[in-house]
Amino acid sequence: MLKPALALLALTSGVARHVAAAESVPDVLPISAAVFTADPSGDAAASFVFALNVDQQTGDLYLHMSAPAGNEWMGVGIGSDMKGAGMFIAYPSKNGTGMTLSTRVGYGHTEPSGQLGTCELSYADDLTDANTVSAGTNGTMTVDAVCHNATTWSGGSLPYADTTAKTAQPFIFAVGPSTNGHGSGHGPSPLRSNSLSAGLRRHVYYGHFTMDITNAVAANTSLAGIPLPNSDTTYTSTHSSAAIDAQADNDPAPAIHAFVMCLTFVIIFPLGALLLKLLHRVRLHAIVQTVGLVLVTMATAGGIVISTQYNRSRHFASAHQVLGILLFLALLGQLGLGIVHHRIFKKEQRPTLLGKIHRYLGPVAIAVGVINAPIGFVFAGNPHLCLPYVIVLVIVAVVFFGVRFCVQRRAARRPKVVGGMPGGGPAEGYQYPQFGSGGGGGNGGGNGNLGPPPAYGRSESYGSEDVPLRPYESQSSGLGEAQHPRTIV
Ligand code: HEM
Ligand code: HEM
Repeated sequence: MLKPALALLALTSGVARHVAAAESVPDVLPISAAVFTADPSGDAAASFVFALNVDQQTGDLYLHMSAPAGNEWMGVGIGSDMKGAGMFIAYPSKNGTGMTLSTRVGYGHTEPSGQLGTCELSYADDLTDANTVSAGTNGTMTVDAVCHNATTWSGGSLPYADTTAKTAQPFIFAVGPSTNGHGSGHGPSPLRSNSLSAGLRRHVYYGHFTMDITNAVAANTSLAGIPLPNSDTTYTSTHSSAAIDAQADNDPAPAIHAFVMCLTFVIIFPLGALLLKLLHRVRLHAIVQTVGLVLVTMATAGGIVISTQYNRSRHFASAHQVLGILLFLALLGQLGLGIVHHRIFKKEQRPTLLGKIHRYLGPVAIAVGVINAPIGFVFAGNPHLCLPYVIVLVIVAVVFFGVRFCVQRRAARRPKVVGGMPGGGPAEGYQYPQFGSGGGGGNGGGNGNLGPPPAYGRSESYGSEDVPLRPYESQSSGLGEAQHPRTIV
């Protein structure tokens, strides 16, 4: 008799009630709760809900939170900004159907970390879908819990005992990125974890609200509990403001970093190498590779800035970052090697060790960069992007090696020994600008000529791939005359 009467009282007075059955959650009726609702998705049936009841006796926080399951995580913070906020962040647990509730502290515009108090999930009978991810297109993730020692933390507190002041206690809320609309966390790479410190991706929607917590406080433990729906089966806003400054958040930086890096390692650097083989113009090769290096420099700077946002990356210790930084240094070295080799070569007409290192380091650097991209996708929580990446990579590789193969075959058909030089044929060498183009003779410079330069080619210990090290072979017309480069200045 008493229970239905109390339940009726709860509904008519607009306050939420709950009989909690979990061991350490009191089996009592709470008396008051503040409820905040927002509608980030535009779909009222799948809105963000946060309901709070505070036990004034123990300081325990009883909370209910729910949001569309198409988001990777949902979170609420006590405070007016991320910095200094005590946060409650929930995401699907490892099995994809349960929930994990993680408490953290915000230190600025970065992924929150640390822990604030401890929480217990409650599966009491009168809670609908407690701590589960419900399936379907309108799937919802729901968390119902009591948190102990969670009202003070480094940098902030919830002044629940101050009954006069906090009629407008500031809060923040946010939801994590979409799991691509597959509902119930079954997107391509949803966050599913039992870890309280699982890595989060940055929010796609955030905002502020205030709560009149004087109306969310239960005078003692027997009156405290997890808030139940206060309007039939749903939660409606009560003792709370509407969402304030709520907005979509879209951080393009990781996508730009990834796009520029992939573009450079998959297209630009291989193109620069291919151009040297095809057109034998070292200057063109140098220009294309320098453009690539400028892009890599900018994307590395971007990667470093992005790294500071996430707990997984702020220590710069992941394989992706370490490889990326080493690679960047190697590329700077590669540029230096190319320039110094080229200068020595111009002066002394001889192959150099630097040139040889340049020749072998280049392909290795490109290969490491190409491999670092899928490592990056996994690192950023986007492993599903590896497949399209590999498809593009295979197409580019087929074109690249196809063209190379044709060039080599054409070169192989040319006379092997020309003008006393082995190897012969334009495709095998690279053309220095001061020698004129394409093996057609560098004799028109008017500066006198030096006579045929010393050959250095395959027979001199460099393999058929020694493009930058065997420039003079291209000085052959292919008709048996030795070529005479112009004066080198
Ligand atoms: C991976 C985790 C997170 C990252 C990297 C992150 C990053 C950021 C950044 C960069 C901004 C500034 C956006 C702008 O100026 O347009 C911001 C603002 C904001 N974030 Fe987060 N955030 C994270 C998690 C959270 C969580 C869990 C919440 C809520 C519980 C939250 C709530 C907010 C709010 C309300 C703002 C606007 C107020 C302010 O400037 O602090 N964020 N966040
Ligand atoms: C070979 C060089 C590199 C390549 C090819 C590369 C490529 C990528 C790719 C494809 C992603 C995935 C982005 C996403 O899915 O949102 C990524 C993420 C990332 N990269 Fe790189 N990257 C390189 C170097 C670096 C360097 C040098 C750093 C910084 C030290 C860095 C820091 C990051 C970070 C922090 C992320 C993750 C962002 C997140 O968690 O959302 N990367 N990178």
